[in-house]
Amino acid sequence: MCGIVGYSGYRDASDVLVSGLTRLEYRGYDSAGIAVFEKDGNVTQVKAKGELKNLKNKLSDEYKPVGITGIGHTRWATHGEPSDLNSHPHRGRRVTIVHNGIIENYAELKAFLTDNGYEFFTATDTEVAANLLDYYYKGDPLRCITDFMSEVVGSFALGIMFDDIKDTIYAVRKESPLIVGVGDNEAFIASDVTAILEYTKKYYLLEHNEIAKLTANSVEFYNHRLKRFEKELKIADWDLNAAEKGGYPHYMIKEIHEQPTAVKTTITPRIKNGLPDLSECGITAEKLQTYRRIFIVACGTAMYAGMVGKYLIEGLARVPVEVDVASEFRYRNPIIGKGDLVIIISQSGETADSLEALKISKSLGAETLGIVNVKGSSIARNSDMLIYTHAGPEIAVASTKAYMVQLSVMYLFAFKLALAKGAISIEECERLTKGLAATPELIQNSIDTVINDCQFVATKLVAADDLFYLGRGLDYALSLEGSLKLKEITYIHSESYASGELKHGPISLICEGMPVIAIATQKSLIPKTVSNVEEVKARGAMTILVCDEETVFGEETQKALDYIIKVPKTDEVLMPMSAIVPLQLLAYYTSVNKGIDMDKPRNLAKSVTVE
Ligand code: F6R
Repeated sequence: MCGIVGYSGYRDASDVLVSGLTRLEYRGYDSAGIAVFEKDGNVTQVKAKGELKNLKNKLSDEYKPVGITGIGHTRWATHGEPSDLNSHPHRGRRVTIVHNGIIENYAELKAFLTDNGYEFFTATDTEVAANLLDYYYKGDPLRCITDFMSEVVGSFALGIMFDDIKDTIYAVRKESPLIVGVGDNEAFIASDVTAILEYTKKYYLLEHNEIAKLTANSVEFYNHRLKRFEKELKIADWDLNAAEKGGYPHYMIKEIHEQPTAVKTTITPRIKNGLPDLSECGITAEKLQTYRRIFIVACGTAMYAGMVGKYLIEGLARVPVEVDVASEFRYRNPIIGKGDLVIIISQSGETADSLEALKISKSLGAETLGIVNVKGSSIARNSDMLIYTHAGPEIAVASTKAYMVQLSVMYLFAFKLALAKGAISIEECERLTKGLAATPELIQNSIDTVINDCQFVATKLVAADDLFYLGRGLDYALSLEGSLKLKEITYIHSESYASGELKHGPISLICEGMPVIAIATQKSLIPKTVSNVEEVKARGAMTILVCDEETVFGEETQKALDYIIKVPKTDEVLMPMSAIVPLQLLAYYTSVNKGIDMDKPRNLAKSVTVE
């Protein structure tokens, strides 16, 4: 979702802003713009609808503002269509801003400002925010910002420049994330650290209701009562290479290939003496014994990682688990409280619905565990217990390596819980943990084994309008993610069904040539899933089966299977780590064949920081 960059220093601000916005492209956007304090003291804006290259063309073909201080923005439209006019920055009379978030009471504020003589030219809530700041601006920027904060309902991260305070940027946040970077004689603001890694690794995390004032040589922080305070300086442990393509044609395929390393980095420090050890995350056996029920709350892919977690936890630890879509959980008045554990899974750690679900769970007395990739993110900071996944930056909008490490944490947690609850023996836990420790090689092996098959089968999927994924048990949980991946980046309509549900309705949709991808890795369920595949084949479907390398089928069954993709075998419970790989690659290569830029699929944003 919207990306913010701001710069004050000695370099060409236009260049720094555009380079930062390029690194934030992955968040998803539909237009972009910059505003720079020019040498003559004027603020010049350049904006363009569509891809960043349109803005770059404008800057090279028409006019590039020259100055050392400016703010920039990639916009993901909420109020008002994507257009040059609606792109940020936006101006009040003496104020220029970029904004991430939603001003919920903008209509009321607009009416108030209109009554006070302000005019509006765009359909955005941000223009209202810019004018409200102007309304409160009486020469004291900090006072103006706190007055603004007390009026506005909603979420915001703002980069602000006041016309009469040259080469200074103000920043403030509520809910929406913002960091402040510092280099030698330069300072930055950004939606996330990837935007500034080229220049510095040193940054501060701006917290809710905190204000920052930046010049080339100073960074000051104030709270909402205008009391100045110091903040802890952080050093990013992601390097620039991690945020670049490194020779791969797309971030998504690079990230698929990074999965073995990411899993290794995530699990290795958490396995001690052959058993899972989550004590550094605040999770002890004594604590685990107390939980009666577990809720896993997340969105999209992270929620599907939670679905795998449910099967694992219930199957191994015999503790009931509910998996909830965060946007539903927060409004369904959930029945939770003391003795319940709520696990929030999030790559970005900033997903608005997941963050709210976390806050609600805490307020109801449940304990919370965050499983988060981005260090210092809101969900990470607000969780009672925290397990960081170590996927490094995930740039492709379609999540792959973040999902894989989320799965690996689900395993660690389920094994630990099962042992703590006495549901499995120590020997069994050791055996499972050993299998998990070997998954980095397993995933690599799976990539190497299936990549050619996936490239080939993907050529059969390009023409499809509709597609089904089927599975039972853990394979069903996996098929949900496979289906989401495909629809996100190929724009093919795809649904996932528990195989047993087919006959209760969805089978009516099967028609000649429609691809059906079934996953069958759980021994006791294979015959059942395969007979569902035979049923769809009999109705004309083109069938693709993902199974382990040791599965053999009789002659009759073979006839019902148009394509078989065999993945390396491991313990049945760990098969999702192997079997998800072809689902990711099928989606990727189908997207490649369709000529889609899968790193930035239409309408999607990487980090969904508004409801
Ligand atoms: C899909 C995808 C999304 C995210 C979802 C939650 O590929 O990436 O479905 O999983 O938006 O995001 P996080 O994990 O950042 O909370």
